[in-house]
Amino acid sequence: MHPHSQFPWLLQLESCPSTNTVAMDELEDLQHGTCLWTQAQSAGRGQAGRSWYSDAGVLTASFVIELEQDLLGPAMSMCAGLAVAHCVEDLSNCPLVHIKWPNDCFVQGRKLAGILCEGRPCGDRFRMVIGIGLNVNPSWTNGQAPADSHFHGRPPISIAELGGKPPEMLQVIDSLRSYLLQSVGLIQAQRWQVILPDLRKRDCLLGQSLALEQDGRTVHGLGAGIDEDGSLLIRLPDGGCTRCASSFNLRVMDMIHG
Ligand code: BTN
Repeated sequence: MHPHSQFPWLLQLESCPSTNTVAMDELEDLQHGTCLWTQAQSAGRGQAGRSWYSDAGVLTASFVIELEQDLLGPAMSMCAGLAVAHCVEDLSNCPLVHIKWPNDCFVQGRKLAGILCEGRPCGDRFRMVIGIGLNVNPSWTNGQAPADSHFHGRPPISIAELGGKPPEMLQVIDSLRSYLLQSVGLIQAQRWQVILPDLRKRDCLLGQSLALEQDGRTVHGLGAGIDEDGSLLIRLPDGGCTRCASSFNLRVMDMIHG
């Protein structure tokens, strides 16, 4: 693990099983704003205990963020989703990156990035590891993406497909870090809900058909927005509303996109 000559906060690894695992293992020694990056991740981890395979050209990096205290539920994932959205909009011709609550970024109904947040108390503070897998310019761009990376039959998408000159990895990492630190600063100074308006305009589950496992049964409804407590609201057929606190219990039935 060696610091990058241009960016002292960037620790580059020739290869590693998972940048999130390394960051979690070394967390006490990693400062706020540090980024671990490798171009060869051999055992990447995804959400819900899934494995995460990434081709060359997919950014695999983990950012260390120190907070005064743990954030409620999925707030940090959504903060990271916004950082990805703003970074990609700056570096491509994409007008709006959508967020699939709480931790995926989509464009045109195709997955662009996934986020895995983990953390634990460190002394009297709380440190988080924000793992981001972002399709920058993978070999499958405009070609055959791995079948298990499809979502509702749609292949993933990359920044390179969004128009403009494909950015350099370092440019993407630097921009992601800036946006991440900026929104973390904002939510620490105010309440995390300060990011809700930006999130809500990117919510790609709004109006989508969803199934939720609740108390041992499955309820169906339509995405009805992100609530003040960070949970996803679901409008039920009888007009009532229920909330979903974790994506583990949630299934998207189909994804209709404009
Ligand atoms: C998902 O979509 O399931 C989340 C994927 C998160 C992948 C990133 S790649 C960098 C970091 N290291 C990991 O092992 N996982 C995250």
